[in-house]
Formats: sequence, structure tokens, C-alpha cells
Amino acid sequence: MRTHYCTDVTQADISKQVTVVGWANSYRDHGGIIFIDLRDKSGLIQLTCDPKYNQAAHKIADGVRDEYVLIATGVVRSRGEGLSNPRLKTGAIEIVVDELSIENKSEPIPFVIGDRAVGEETKLKYRYLELRDPKLYETFFLRSKAAIAARNVLDKHGFLEVETPILTKSTPEGARDYLVPSRVHGGEFYALPQSPQLFKQLLMVGGFDRYFQIAKCFRDEDLRADRQPEFTQIDVEMSFCNQEDVIKIAEDLLQGIFQACGIEVKPPFNRIKHKDAMEWYGSDKPDLRYDLKMVDVIDIFERCDNEIFSNIAKKPHTNRIKALRVPKADLIFSKREMKGFEDFVKKFGAGGLGYFQMKEDGLKGPLIKFFTQEDIELIIERTQLQVGDVVFFGAGEKKTVLDYMGRFRVFIAEHEKMNLIDSDRFEFVWVVDFPMFEVDGGVVKALHHPFTMPKDLDKDDVQEIESIAYDIVLNGVELGGGSIRIHKEDIQEKIFSLLGIAKEEAQEKFGFLLDALKFGAPPHGGFAIGFDRLMMLLTKKTSIRDVIAFPKTQKAACLLTHAPSKVDNEQLKDLHIRVREITK
Ligand code: AMO
Repeated sequence: MRTHYCTDVTQADISKQVTVVGWANSYRDHGGIIFIDLRDKSGLIQLTCDPKYNQAAHKIADGVRDEYVLIATGVVRSRGEGLSNPRLKTGAIEIVVDELSIENKSEPIPFVIGDRAVGEETKLKYRYLELRDPKLYETFFLRSKAAIAARNVLDKHGFLEVETPILTKSTPEGARDYLVPSRVHGGEFYALPQSPQLFKQLLMVGGFDRYFQIAKCFRDEDLRADRQPEFTQIDVEMSFCNQEDVIKIAEDLLQGIFQACGIEVKPPFNRIKHKDAMEWYGSDKPDLRYDLKMVDVIDIFERCDNEIFSNIAKKPHTNRIKALRVPKADLIFSKREMKGFEDFVKKFGAGGLGYFQMKEDGLKGPLIKFFTQEDIELIIERTQLQVGDVVFFGAGEKKTVLDYMGRFRVFIAEHEKMNLIDSDRFEFVWVVDFPMFEVDGGVVKALHHPFTMPKDLDKDDVQEIESIAYDIVLNGVELGGGSIRIHKEDIQEKIFSLLGIAKEEAQEKFGFLLDALKFGAPPHGGFAIGFDRLMMLLTKKTSIRDVIAFPKTQKAACLLTHAPSKVDNEQLKDLHIRVREITK
């Protein structure tokens, strides 16, 4: 119906006749002349309906209201000196309308398109109206470009796109499953996949060699700004490969996606061992757009004259004393603000937060009296203190200290007075050599998943066992991860036994994979990138919902369709289900 999208009409079209279509974004009657801002996915253009020029079109324009669907034909004209609107791409021109038709009317809409102040609930209920905002369209345009780029890069590398089942068995990614009751097999359930993990491994056993999928995954877990109950992964698996091969493919993929969205990123990306990431940044997903690296000072504190600290320092295996230098903090923050920092870390289990200030005449602070001059100098040297800096100390049990000092690091970097984050930077880092297991309340769990290849199983302490697993982190967000997999049955059985998974249980849950490993499974590995998270970071959004066309709320509800919802008794009966009274 159209000759141009609204913002494709330019000054080069002046005096030409064009036809544009779209929605009435707004209309104004100025002394008999009606101006309509017409909107399509590209943006706005002004329609001018002058009765002196065309009476019939003006009459129709008089009946136009917000969000009416219009087709307009007219001649492009310059708006003239002083009348242009520099905020619009088409602000210097207008279309003088010859022919106008109202294709559809609209009820008054619940909010003005593009109004950022509208509540989340209203916006999600009328998501299709929110999507009319060309700014949102732009995000989904990039998402589409990114998906196409991903396909192209992987196709170029010989990967085959294969769809794996949605109605399946539980997959081991550690979250709760979404279950689907079977009508045919009463009392039995399918699980929606938390990832295509097991099927992609089976495709390797099937000899497909290189697989990928832009796959929907489902996880029933507590939601956050970067989590949704259903989300998309770019999921990849390859055979006869090592970690380097997989990382190279992932880097090519990310570079191709960013390029398609107009952003240059340059692999190879930095790498950091998991252990170092924890010790230096207190996180397995460090944001490396800023420095703020923690330093170990436990040996210095062991010599100090304060029993609390020296006792903590006596157990370097289980405890940590970490120092974080904050440049110029003494000049930037008041005493009260520094006290506030202590309150912040206390929320995460800290007993307190000690600090020294680097003044012109040396290091100051209430704790200083416990240290020898030699050790004071060692602290200055190790933390590279300069006049005006403050060094903060966290002391106590290792996991707790690393956690709160890591959070404090982020808190400081994000503090408006510090301004340490360059929001235009994309800082990728591979976190490698993950531990194979974590011990939580005495229970041994797989840190990645139980199909990850261990580096060396011969360790007395399971927590010392490393795996060939890697995560890709972007600006402090875990973007994706993967591993080289176990392809031999005996190693797989050993891992299950370390995890306390009995033979029968393993057979019941993953028997099909264990069977497959018996039939000549090739060495293989892969990774998955959270596509929504990737797009959230790439488009600089703060919530994953902004890059999902029809997202769910924090409570996993779809406000548009009212899912989840009750179903009628007949349907439940078919599914052999009786619902108990729900007490909330
Ligand atoms: P993992 O569980 O680390 O690995 O998931 C890979 C990536 O998926 C994204 N992601 C999510 N995004 C949005 N909402 C969620 N609820 C959510 N959960 C995960 C993250 C994450 O880094 N099968 C393995 C991959 C492999 O080993 O090949 C897996 O799923 O960005």
C-alpha cells in the first residue's frame, strides 16, 4: 500500500507524490489546518491537511483520533524556515495530503505510545501497544539481525541447525522443571527442557559433528532483572574438539553478532582462572570495565597486634583478609558515607569494614597502631596507595569475605561519586578452570553440570578438582558457558558416585545418555549463550524484559494472556489431575 516508510521520506523527495501508512500518533488543529503525526515502525512524519488544498482530505482528517490507522497520499514539501522540528528525522519536511483514508478506528488508548513513565503492569497488559513505539521496534530489529548473524557465522563454520524436543525428560541444569501432564500416560509428565544439553550430546554420538540451535529453554526459578522463566539460548555443540576450538567458535559468533548490530568487538577475549576471579574480584563474573582489584594481606595481618585479626589470619586455608584500594576516596567521601559502606557490607555477612586513609603525612586510621612501620609500608606498596586513597579491609571466613568484598567493589564502581564505569565499553572475559564441584551444606553438587569433563579426578578434596568448563562474562554478567563433556561411561559413573547419585537413580534420570556413551561416543564439547541477556547488554537495557517481545513478570505471569490460568474440570479429568484447594 505504501511507497515509503515514514522516515524513508527525505528532502530528496520534495515535490514528489508519496503514500505512507501507519497510526495517528497525534493530531493538532491549527486555525483550520490539521496536522497529523503519522507513525510506523520507522518513526514519524507530519501530514498536513489544508482545506484550501484538498477539502475532502481535510474533512476526513477532522475525524482522525489517536491511533487511527491511516493511508495518506500527498506531495512532499519543505516545512519552511523556522518551522522544522530538529528532534524528528523527518522534521524538515511534511506531506501535504491529497488523499486520506481511515482504515480502522481505535478506542482511546490506555497510555501514550512511547511514554516511559507508564507502570510496568499496564505496559505488559497492552504489550502490543507498547511495541508500536519505534524505539522498541529498533531493539527487536537488532535482535533479528543478531539471530541471523548467529546463523550465518555458525553455518559458515559447518554447524547444522537441529531442533530438539520440547516435550521431554528433566534436564540437569539445576533449576525446577516446568512439567506437562500426559493425557495418554495417566499420572506421567513431560518436562520442558532447561536446555537442550542431553540431546545435543546425543547428536554428537549420532555423528552430526557440529550442531547449533536457537533454542527455547524453560526454568522455574526465582526471577531477577536478567532472568525469565522461558528464555532463548544460542546452543552449540561440536565433536573432536578441545577447549580452544570451542572458545574460538564462541568468539567468532559473538564478534559476528556484535558486528551485525554495528559494534566492533575484538577477540581473543581476556581469560581469567576461576580461582583468580574469586580472589581478585570476589565473583565468578567480574566486571572488568574498571580495575579495583582486591589484594591479599592476610600474611601482614597475621603479624599485627590485634588478636581478632591475627586469629583470623592464622587460618589462611579457610579465611581471608582482603584489601581494596579505592582511589581518591578520602577526598570524595565523607565519614558518614564511609560508615554507610560498612552498613552495606554488613548486609552480606561482614562483621565490619576497616579502612586506612592515605594522607600527605602517611597512612592513618584507628587500626594503624597495631602494625609495625615496616608492615604499614608493605600495605602501601602492595595496594599501591597514593595520597587521597582509602584502602578498605574485609576479614573473616573466605566465602563470606570474597562475597561481600566483591559486592562492595561493584557498589563502589557504580557509586555516582566514583563514576568508574564506561557504559560504552563491552568488556568480555572468559572465566576458565571452574571447580568441578561445590559443597553446599555438606552436599556435593556439580558446579556446571554432571556431564562436564573433570581435569584430574585424583585429588583428596573434591573441591580441588577442576573441570574443563568455561563461562563467557560481559560487563559483569554471565552471558554463557560451556564445557568439554565426559564421553566415557566409566568417568561419568565416577562423577555420579561423587555426586552421591545412585546407579539406579542415574539410570532412571539419564539412562539414555549413559547408554549412548557405551556406543562409541566421540570426544565433544560446546557452549550456550543466553540470547536474551546478550541482547539486553548489547542494546544497553537494564531488564531482560525489554528484549523479549512478550515477557513475563517477576512472578512468571503473562499479564497479556493471563497465563497461567485455571482450566476446566473436563480438561483436568482428561489429564488425570485433581487440584487441591490452594491455600495462599
Ligand atoms: P547455563 O545454565 O549456564 O548453561 O545457561 C547458559 C546461559 O543461558 C542464560 N540463562 C538465562 N537467561 C535468561 N533467563 C534465565 N532464567 C536463564 N538461565 C540461564 C545465561 C547462561 O549463561 N547446557 C548448558 C550450556 C552448555 O554446557 O553447553 C547451559 O544451559 O546467559
